[in-house]
Amino acid sequence: MVLVSTKNILRKAQKGRYAVAHFNTNNLEFTEAIVTAADKLKAPVIIATSAGAIKYAGIQQIASMIKIGAAKAKVPVALHLDHSPGLGLIKNCVKEGWTSVMIDASHNSFNTNVRRTRQAVQFCRRYGVPVEAELGQLGGEEGWVKGKNIFTNPVQAKAFVKKTKCDSLAVAIGTSHGAYKFKGNPKLDLQRLKEIREMISIPLVLHGASSVPKDLIRKANKLGARIKGAAGVPDTQIKKAIKLGICKVNTDTDLRLAFNYGVRKFLKKNPSVIDPRKALNSGKIEIQKIVEKKIRLLGSAGKA
Ligand code: G3H
Ligand code: 13P
Ligand code: ZN
Repeated sequence: MVLVSTKNILRKAQKGRYAVAHFNTNNLEFTEAIVTAADKLKAPVIIATSAGAIKYAGIQQIASMIKIGAAKAKVPVALHLDHSPGLGLIKNCVKEGWTSVMIDASHNSFNTNVRRTRQAVQFCRRYGVPVEAELGQLGGEEGWVKGKNIFTNPVQAKAFVKKTKCDSLAVAIGTSHGAYKFKGNPKLDLQRLKEIREMISIPLVLHGASSVPKDLIRKANKLGARIKGAAGVPDTQIKKAIKLGICKVNTDTDLRLAFNYGVRKFLKKNPSVIDPRKALNSGKIEIQKIVEKKIRLLGSAGKA
């Protein structure tokens, strides 16, 4: 299939009370694992590239790779620009065929966030590309996305959406990027989410939603990784968030952990094999398992 916009797949998810999975990619193995899993489960899917991924793989190279992957799939695949730090990258991506973008001016003041988001919306409208924006801030450190937790204010959210006319809104309700999300009890501010939902009607997005599976961490650590104190969002909290109106769920860290484990497992078992394709393929297999698990959790299997 050709790439689709996120507009319709998110609206459909909102009506159907499930969430579409967003997965970040940087390379061939991640992209293939995501497309294969989505196709197998007949799920619409969003493949996302951060500014870091584009820098790593090259804008045309990563776009071509994802377009070719999507063309092989029978399910709708959207190509999304994640956390764009500015309009410049958005313009370049739209030109190269991205079908969805996020402008992340959440670290600016409310007024500046409004102004920069509105600029992105005005540009993208001309090309029919939907814009995700963020209000509030997520904690964590992944690539350039660094922040402290500032929860989304529901009243501000209403004003923000009215002023910017963004197509979807990422909310800060206690998640954060990366593998170290919670020190104590992992808990989302679901009451706040409910209040935001009551204030605005556009699709809501949950970033920083990796589960950071304990068994994956344990197995990777057994093979030499040193990942300590990692904690993710429990599946039960994700399910509740979807019931309360989240219809796009972003996952990157879980795929990175799965890949890390898969590559380690192969190299440990096969210390004399130097063909990189074999180690990378082992990583790919583990990613696919995680992607399938996430799609099932979000309820998007069979919704293509
Ligand atoms: O939300 C952030 C993603 O995990 C992307 O991380 O900037 O390291 O590519 P990155
Ligand atoms: P995780 O770090 O929890 O996977 O979040 C990814 C994300 O929000 C991408 O935008
Ligand atoms: Zn994010």
